[in-house]
Amino acid sequence: MSQTPFPIQPGAAPKTGDGLRAGPDHVAIIMDGNGRWAQARGLPRAMGHREGVEALRRAVEACGDLGLGELTVFSFSTENWKRPPQEVETLFDLLRMFVRSDLQRLHRQNVRIRIPGEREGLAGDILELIEEAVDLTAGNSGLTLNIAFNYGGRAELVDGARKLALAVREGRIRPEDIDEAMLGSTLWTAGSRAPDLILRTSGELRLSNFLLWSGAYAELMFLEVNWPDFEHRHLAQAIEAYRRRDRRFGGVGA
Ligand code: FPP
Repeated sequence: MSQTPFPIQPGAAPKTGDGLRAGPDHVAIIMDGNGRWAQARGLPRAMGHREGVEALRRAVEACGDLGLGELTVFSFSTENWKRPPQEVETLFDLLRMFVRSDLQRLHRQNVRIRIPGEREGLAGDILELIEEAVDLTAGNSGLTLNIAFNYGGRAELVDGARKLALAVREGRIRPEDIDEAMLGSTLWTAGSRAPDLILRTSGELRLSNFLLWSGAYAELMFLEVNWPDFEHRHLAQAIEAYRRRDRRFGGVGA
């Protein structure tokens, strides 16, 4: 990977004035198609995931170039445990390697890393790496990179519901106090802005349990490219298409 010269700063996203909408500020990506990319080349699936990490590095760089404030990527789902143990281990190893090899550089680039997801069931060394990455970069003010790991939208909502039920049982809140803001504040993705745009690569047309709550009004785009082939131009084109979208949030628009 080429050395990136930028500190990755948010807020430089294109502004309106040309009749197009501003932003997006927060893009979320379902990085799909690693297995097919590898199979098409007669390679083991693990090679597809390895190349997927390279594509992730390119995507982070592209977010900096294109002035995004936040990038969320789906790197391991609560349902991915159903995969063969060897593949699960590969994905865990890739998280380990990514944090060990990229953390200091991302920190120097002012990137804030967050790793939303279920902590239970994760190995001790992974938990330590997650804590190290999150703590080291917590004060950074550039791009926020959310690596959703052991993440599932339904599990996130169940976890939030349990926290609220406990708070009611302990008398800290009343059931009628619960509103969208309060439920949102219990989620693993709390503190993130709602994604403006959710991209999925590989041509599959599903959300697969990704950002069910915060993605309620996200614009969706499905790209035909497999994740390991994802490049700067794919993100740039998606942003261009986003800026032509009419977002009404249930209203009637301008
Ligand atoms: C889906 O492709 C992709 C995943 C389940 C994992 C995505 C992970 C990475 C891109 C690398 C991990 C990065 C870090 C930092 C941990 P698939 O395997 O389901 O592809 P297929 O549908 O073609 O089989």
